[in-house]
Order: sequence, then C-alpha cells, then structure tokens
Amino acid sequence: MVRSLFRLTKMSYLAMVVVAISGLTSQAVPAQDGDVEAGKQKSATCVACHGPNGISVSADFPHLAGQVPGYIAIQLANFKSGERSDPIMQGMSAGLSDEDMADLDAYYVSLDSNKGSVTPEQESQAVDGSKIYRGGYEPYSIAACMSCHGPSGHGIPPAFPRVSGQGPAYLEAQLLAFKSGARKNSIMNPISFALSEEQIKQLSLYMSAID
Ligand code: HEC
Ligand code: HEC
Repeated sequence: MVRSLFRLTKMSYLAMVVVAISGLTSQAVPAQDGDVEAGKQKSATCVACHGPNGISVSADFPHLAGQVPGYIAIQLANFKSGERSDPIMQGMSAGLSDEDMADLDAYYVSLDSNKGSVTPEQESQAVDGSKIYRGGYEPYSIAACMSCHGPSGHGIPPAFPRVSGQGPAYLEAQLLAFKSGARKNSIMNPISFALSEEQIKQLSLYMSAID
C-alpha cells in the first residue's frame, strides 16, 4: 500500500515535469502505441543515414537505437511541423503519418543503444564534463544534466532523450544549436546559452562515453 502510494507520487511528479516541459516546448505528444515490425519496414528509407541497426554511419547523424519511448515520434512531428528545422529531416518526415511515427519510434526503441568511448587524450576533458553533468554549474544556476537525462544518460520517457553513447559531434552540434537559438522552444535554450563552447565540448565527450 505504502509502496504503491510512493510509486503513484513518483509517477505524478514525473508526469508533472513532463507536462511542464511539453508546455515549454509546445511539442506534439504521440498518442498511440507503435508496431515494431511495421516500424522496421518503414525504416528502410532511414538506413542510409541512421544505419541498419539505428547506429548511424556518420558523426553528423544521430544514433536512434535504444532511445526513450516517445522521443523519436515527438521529434519526427517537430521536424514535420517545422518546429525543429533541418532541411534533410523536414523532407524525410513530410510524408509520415502519426501511425508511421509511432511505428518508427517503437522499432528504434527496441534496438540496443550505442556504446561509446573516448580516446586517452580526451579523457581529462570528459572528466571535466562529468562534473557539470552530475553537479550542474553553480555560477550560472545550471541544473545537473542528470536530473533530466538520468545518472547514466538513459533519459526519461518521453521528453528527456537518452544522451549516453550518442556521437560527440552530434551532441556538440545540438548544444551549439540550442545555444544560438537555431534549435528553439526548448528548456535546453537557457541551459546551453549559459555554457561556454569549451564546456559544451567537455559535456559532449562525457555523454558520448557513458553507458
Ligand atoms: C540523408 C540522411 C538522413 C536520412 C535518410 C534520415 N535522417 Fe534522420 N537525421 C538526419 C540528420 C542530419 C539529423 C540531425 C538533424 C539536426 O541536426 O537537427 C537527423 C535527426 C533525426 C532525429 C532526431 C534525433 C534526436 O536525437 O533528436 C530523428 C528522430 C530522425 N532523424 C529520424 C529519422 C527517421 C525515422 C528517418 C527515416 C524515415 C530518417 N531520420 C532519415 C539525417 C537523415
Ligand atoms: C530540466 C530538464 C533538463 C535539463 C536539466 C537538461 N536537459 Fe538536455 N534536454 C531536455 C529536453 C526536454 C530535451 C529535448 C529538447 C527538445 O525536444 O527540443 C533535451 C535535449 C538535449 C540534447 C539533445 C539530444 C538529442 O538527441 O538531440 C542534449 C545534447 C542535451 N539535452 C544535453 C544536456 C546537457 C549537457 C545538460 C546539462 C548542462 C542538459 N541537457 C540538461 C531537458 C533537460
């Protein structure tokens, strides 16, 4: 009884956070459950860039495998509406229905995420990044990244994406896009705005290496 009450409270808290974030980002939240097999078929056009197992083939393209349930469908809807602008992904999402997005989401969620690493030369930068990731950055009142992306970077469905094992160049590009406002309407804008380019590099290396 006490335990289920606790779980309920915890879930309501999470729901509140997600509602708050959805309000901030005005994202369309996908309503339906997807079909993994159908998603696999529909992913044929995605393979060229995001890889046959959702592990991308180039540093410019994000890995999709093992993402938190719901996030991929939200982002596809954002690309389609133009809320998140990217010339390639706007074209790729233009013809997708809500059902297609839910199926693609379910398929990529079902795959094993990438396991990243850093080179010995990058290690000290990644260690500096871990301090902000885990403890925030007090001078600018930046919350610890792990409070939303999880202690191991696994994210919280559906709004807070997995960042662990993601390509460092992609992570860096996204943080710079949030910082400049090129990727907008996100809780990440004020957070990234306060970070220096050096801190963004350190954080990107750290997140890419955790699993
Ligand atoms: C020609 C290359 C290309 C193809 C094909 C492609 N993508 Fe992408 N995708 C990209 C690029 C580049 C980005 C990063 C966009 C940005 O910088 O905002 C991206 C980003 C994404 C994201 C956002 C990931 C995140 O972590 O926020 C999702 C989701 C996605 N693609 C899904 C798909 C799906 C599903 C398909 C197939 C229907 C597809 N993509 C086809 C290049 C491609
Ligand atoms: C209050 C919650 C919150 C905190 C704290 C937070 N994030 Fe985020 N983060 C988000 C949300 C929500 C998104 C998805 C943004 C969107 O949909 O535009 C996101 C997206 C991202 C992305 C893009 C991932 C992708 O796949 O495109 C990166 C990288 C990122 N955050 C890094 C960080 C770092 C580094 C920190 C700490 C300095 C941090 N976040 C702190 C909520 C948070």
